[in-house]
Amino acid sequence: MNSQQNSSTQSIASSRLARLLTALLAVALAQPMVALAQAPVADSPNLEAKAHAWLEKLTLEQKVELVGGVEGMFTNAQPAIGLPRLKMSDASVGVRTWGPTTAYAGGAALAATWDTDFARRLGESLGKDARARNVNFLLGPGVNIARSPISGRNFEYLSEDPYLNSTLVVPFIQGVQSQGVIATVKHYALNDQEYNRHNVSSDADERTMREIYLPAFEAAVSQGHVDAVMNSYNLINGVHATQNEFLNLKVLKGEWGFQGILMSDWDATYSTVGAANNGLDLEMPSPRFMNPPALLAAIKDGSVKESTIDDKLLRIFRTVLRYGFLDRPQFDPSNSTYSVAGRAVALQGALESITLLKNEGRLLPLDAAKIKTIAVIGPNAWPAVPGGGGSSEAQAFEPVSTVTGIANFLGPNVHVLYARGLPEMTDVFSHTRWDGTVNVATYPSKDLTGTPESTTSNAIADYKNEWDGPADKTPRSIRYTTAYKAEKAGKYLVLAAVSGNDDFALRVDGKLLESPPHIEGQAPQFWTLDLAAGQTIHLVADYLPGFAGVRMGLGIAYQPDLVSEEAKQFAAIADAVVVAVGFNDTTESEGLDRTFALPWGQDALIEAAAKANPHTIVTLTGGGGMDTRPWLDKVPALLHVWYPGQEGGTAIAEVLFGKHNPEGKLPVSFDRSWEENPSFSYYYPIKGADNVLHVTETDGKKNDYVIPHVKYEDGLMVGYRYWTTTGKHALYPFGFGLSYTTFSFSNLQAPASAASGSQVTVSFDVTNTGSVSGAEVAQLYVSDPSAKAKRPERELKGFEKVRLAPGETKHVSLTLDTRAFSYWDEGPKKWTIEPGKFVLRVGDSSENTPLNADITLH
Ligand code: BGC
Repeated sequence: MNSQQNSSTQSIASSRLARLLTALLAVALAQPMVALAQAPVADSPNLEAKAHAWLEKLTLEQKVELVGGVEGMFTNAQPAIGLPRLKMSDASVGVRTWGPTTAYAGGAALAATWDTDFARRLGESLGKDARARNVNFLLGPGVNIARSPISGRNFEYLSEDPYLNSTLVVPFIQGVQSQGVIATVKHYALNDQEYNRHNVSSDADERTMREIYLPAFEAAVSQGHVDAVMNSYNLINGVHATQNEFLNLKVLKGEWGFQGILMSDWDATYSTVGAANNGLDLEMPSPRFMNPPALLAAIKDGSVKESTIDDKLLRIFRTVLRYGFLDRPQFDPSNSTYSVAGRAVALQGALESITLLKNEGRLLPLDAAKIKTIAVIGPNAWPAVPGGGGSSEAQAFEPVSTVTGIANFLGPNVHVLYARGLPEMTDVFSHTRWDGTVNVATYPSKDLTGTPESTTSNAIADYKNEWDGPADKTPRSIRYTTAYKAEKAGKYLVLAAVSGNDDFALRVDGKLLESPPHIEGQAPQFWTLDLAAGQTIHLVADYLPGFAGVRMGLGIAYQPDLVSEEAKQFAAIADAVVVAVGFNDTTESEGLDRTFALPWGQDALIEAAAKANPHTIVTLTGGGGMDTRPWLDKVPALLHVWYPGQEGGTAIAEVLFGKHNPEGKLPVSFDRSWEENPSFSYYYPIKGADNVLHVTETDGKKNDYVIPHVKYEDGLMVGYRYWTTTGKHALYPFGFGLSYTTFSFSNLQAPASAASGSQVTVSFDVTNTGSVSGAEVAQLYVSDPSAKAKRPERELKGFEKVRLAPGETKHVSLTLDTRAFSYWDEGPKKWTIEPGKFVLRVGDSSENTPLNADITLH
C-alpha cells in the first residue's frame, strides 16, 4: 500500500468513524432526558394546582375552543398554555387509523381466551403500537354486551356476560395505559345493535342496566382507572347518551367517581346545552353543538355555567398532566411500527381463542405425517380475514390466510389444493341470464313517482357514484322489471346487494320477499326459491337510493351450480378438507347487523365438501353464533376461529395439526336459530312506540327526529342466564370449548356458611386426565335459589385458566366478593344480598358444572 492509498484509507476510516460518532450522538440526543414511560401518575395537589393554573390563563373564548375535536382524530391545541393537539386512533384489534399495523385477535376473540394475563399483554402491545405512531388516545376497548348474535359489532366487543367483560377489560386498560396511552372504554351505554344505531332508544329498567349492561364500564372506571369514556350514538330511555344525566352525571361521574374525559362517539351529539350540562366533556370529531358561538351564547344567557366548562377543561388538563404529555414526546422510538413482538402477541391471541366445538371420532388433530393432499376451500380460506368491518378494521402488513398457514405448516411435500368454491357476488350479477331484457325505469323522485325514463339492460349491476356528475343531487329512484326462466327444477339463490342508506324491495310474481330491516348500511340480502323446470318468474325490484348514485346488483343462480366443480373435485381427492367459511368485513361490520344464516352459498359449499369427503372440517369466522342447522350433523369437526387477527392462518394450522391444543371457550351462547335467542322478540323497535324528539341544530334550524324504542324486555335473561333459567339447552353453551385432552374437577372446598358482606374463598382441583398438555378454564357460577327477588338461575362470578401437563393436578382458589352474591334492588336502589342459601357450582361451561356446594349467608 503506498502512502497515498494509506492516507486515503485513513481518511475513509476517519470519516466512517466520524459518521458513526455523529450517528451515535444523534441517537443519544434523540433519547429524552427522562425515561419514556409511561404509566399515568396519580393525582396530587401539585397536579391539581397546575391544572388550575392553566385554566386561569385562558379567556372564556379560549376555553370553549377546547371542548370540541379537530380534523377527525385530534383534540384541539391551546398555544396559550403550550397544549398541543392530542392524537387519537381506533381501537380494540389494532391501532388502525394511521396506516398498516399489527392486527390482533381482539374483541370477542380476546373474550374467548378467558385469559386475563393475555388481556394485559394485548393492551400493552396496543399501547406500544400507539406510542410508535404518536397516538395519545386509543379509542377502545368496546365492552357492549353481546345481547343478540346478529348485532354487527359483537366481534369488536367482548361477551354476553358482565363478569367476564369486567374481568378482562381491567387488565386490558391497565396494559394500554401502562404505556402512556389513554384507553377509551366505549360505547357508554346500551349500544347493543347496529340497526338504526343513531336513532333508537334502548329502553331498559335500572336493574337490567346495573346487572348486565353497566358492570364492565364500572370495572373499567373503578378498577381499571380508565382515563376516557366514549358515549354511544343511541338514546337510553329516551335521552341521547351524550346528554344523559343518569348515565353521565349520576352514575359515571357521581357514583363511580370517574375523573377522566367523557367524549362523544363521532357525531353522536344532539344538543349544545343538553350535552354541556349533562357531562359531555369533548364533542368528537368536531364541535357541531358544543362549539364556541353556541357555548358563548349559552353561557351568556345563563343556560350553561362557565364553571361547567371549567370542569370539562380541568378533566382534560388533569389527564394531560397525569400522562406527562407536555414533558415527553408521545412518539417512543423504543417501539416499532412494524412490530415483530406484536406479531407474537397476535399469534398468541389467535391460538388461545380458536374454539373447538365439534370433534366426532377424534378427527382432529390431523396427523400431518399422513396427509399427502389437503383441500382448503371457501371464501374465507384466502385471502385472510383478520377482522370485521368498520372503524376497528386494522390493515395488517401481511395477514396470514388459512391456506397460507396450512401450506407453511405442512411444507413442500404436501399438496395443498385451494379453491374459493363459490363465485364472487358481482359474477352472480353479471352472469344471470334474464328471460328477455331488464326494463329499467328511472323516476325523477325518491319514491317512484312521476314519469320515468325507460331503458333496457341485460344485467342488473349498476354502480354509479353520481347520476350525471358530482353536481347532480336530483333525487331519483329506479324500478327494474324482468323475468327469469328456471331451466332445471330445484333451489335457486336470489342475491341482491345495495348499499349506504338505500331502500330496496323485491317482488316475485307480485309477492314481496321479506328481508330483515336494515337502516344503516346493507349486507347482501339473499333468498332461496324452489322452482320447477321451465317455470318463469316475474321480478320487480324497487330501488330507492339514499344518495345521489346507484349501487345496486341483483342476480339469480341455480344453487347446486354455485359450488365450483373444482372445489368438489379437490374435496374428493384430498385426505382431508378444510372448509373456511363465515363472515368478513363486508358482511359483519359496524353500521349494519348481520344475518344469522351464513352468507349466501356457504351452506351448499359445506354440504358439497362433506358429501365428497368424510374428513371435512369446517372453520367459521364471525363474532358469535350463526346458523349451523343445514350441515352440522354432516360434518365431523367444527372450529370457531372468531376474527383471528393477522396470524390467524398460522394459528388455525397449529390447532388443526395439534401443535397447539385448542383452548378457546365460548364467550357467548351459540343458538340453533335466531328465533330461539332470548332477545329475538325485543330486538327491533316496538311498533307504535315511536316518539318525536325536537332537536335544534346550531344553525338555528329545528329538526325533528323520530325515536324508535327498543324495549329490553328480555331483561336479565341474556345468553346463558336465559338458557339455564329456563332449563333449556343452547346449541353450544356459554363457556364451552373442546380440547384434545380431557379434564376433571374434584375436591371442592367452600365454607358452609359466612357472613353477608364477607369474602368467600372457594377452591377445587383441576386435573388433566388425558395424554397431552392443555388449558382448561375453570368456571365458578353462583345461584341464589332462596332469593325472593327473581334472579337468573346462575351467574358467572369467578374463573381461572389453568395450564396442565398430562396427569397434572392444580388446586385453584377463587375469591367471591360481596357483589358476587348481590343483585340490584330497585326499591332502595342499591346492591343487596338476601341472606339465605346460595349454591356454588364449578365446571367447564355454564351447562356443565360437576361440582357444587351450598353456602348459607347470614
Ligand atoms: C365508532 C367508534 C369509533 C369512531 C372513530 C365511530 O363510528 O362508532 O367506535 O371510535 O367512529 O372512528
